[in-house]
Amino acid sequence: MIRSGAAILVTGGAGYIGAHTCKALYEAGLNPIVYDNLSNGHRAAVRWGELVVADIRDCFALRSAMINFSVAGVINFAGLIEVARSIERPDLFYDINVAGLACVLEAMHEAEVPRIVFSSSAAIYGQPRANSKVSLLKETAAKSPISTYGDTKLTGERMIAAFSAAFGLSGVALRYFNAAGADEAGLIGEAHEPETHLIPLAIKAALGLGGPLTIFGADFPTPDGSCIRDYVHVADLASAHVAALNFPLAAGGFEAMNLGTGTGTSVFEVIAAIDSAVGRPTPYSIGRRRNGDPARLVAASERATRKLGWRPTHSSISEIVRSAVAWHRAPAYGAEGRDKAGLADSRGTA
Ligand code: UFG
Repeated sequence: MIRSGAAILVTGGAGYIGAHTCKALYEAGLNPIVYDNLSNGHRAAVRWGELVVADIRDCFALRSAMINFSVAGVINFAGLIEVARSIERPDLFYDINVAGLACVLEAMHEAEVPRIVFSSSAAIYGQPRANSKVSLLKETAAKSPISTYGDTKLTGERMIAAFSAAFGLSGVALRYFNAAGADEAGLIGEAHEPETHLIPLAIKAALGLGGPLTIFGADFPTPDGSCIRDYVHVADLASAHVAALNFPLAAGGFEAMNLGTGTGTSVFEVIAAIDSAVGRPTPYSIGRRRNGDPARLVAASERATRKLGWRPTHSSISEIVRSAVAWHRAPAYGAEGRDKAGLADSRGTA
């Protein structure tokens, strides 16, 4: 159990899931220290603790931050996330996601920080077998990533297991399915640049803030022909990180858990939810399939429920979409919220 007020180093804490997790840590009585180079993160998203602007490949800066703040645990979000880009730029993905994680683990070993929670992904499973048309994906399913991104996440899990066994750390890998939605209070939300995810792109199309959505294939072997995913509210993901930090795991232990809802939602069902939240139809056209998109990815999350007592409570598609629409109507930062972000910066958010 992490003691109240303990400092938790959150690499990538100025990013989407990282910022929501910092809020949850703060509300749980912990002290998030954001470690982010702001290459993709937003200074205005850092509101619940101090900010250290540095890179995860800077092993020395990592170790100094861990020692200076007497860090009790690390949550590692820092990394690149775009699947398509990972295939074009494996150099960057292995450098940041794998060599960067090696720096984090080495610094933890040197600074004697005992616990890491790691952002992993459903991408480690690759293309589930055809018989998974209706079944849920368990943690024991075959792991054969089809993208460099997925491979960096699987490698990251293996590195943590090896460091834990050799040096007595303990690690929990959380395999996210489709993170979506935004903080209820409207202070933080999804602001990727460039944006590639379905829900923000469809909302921007519906609000007239972006071009029409292209649906990547309507000829999949699913009831309506579009891909099915398991969308989880980012606030539910955030609470899982707090639970994972407190999970009683012996030194040297490693656990991996899926975070999803067990409910699949198709692209057309997402669009219908957005139509109703925005109050007008989302403009879209049907295009070709995107490389590497499995027809259906839905998580079995019983392990997280059993081990962490975690259950998603905000992850109905209507709640996810409603919170995301509210954010995109008035983003506090990101492409459409630059002026407001500037204001937040000058007030100081750390
Ligand atoms: N989609 C569209 N049009 C778009 C964007 C997406 O039709 O403009 C479709 C995709 O084809 C897919 C679904 O919407 O069927 C969801 O796509 P996202 O890009 O929002 O999310 P992914 O399921 O591709 O990716 C998520 C995470 C990744 C992770 C992956 C694992 O964002 O980090 O799941 O499969 F690697």
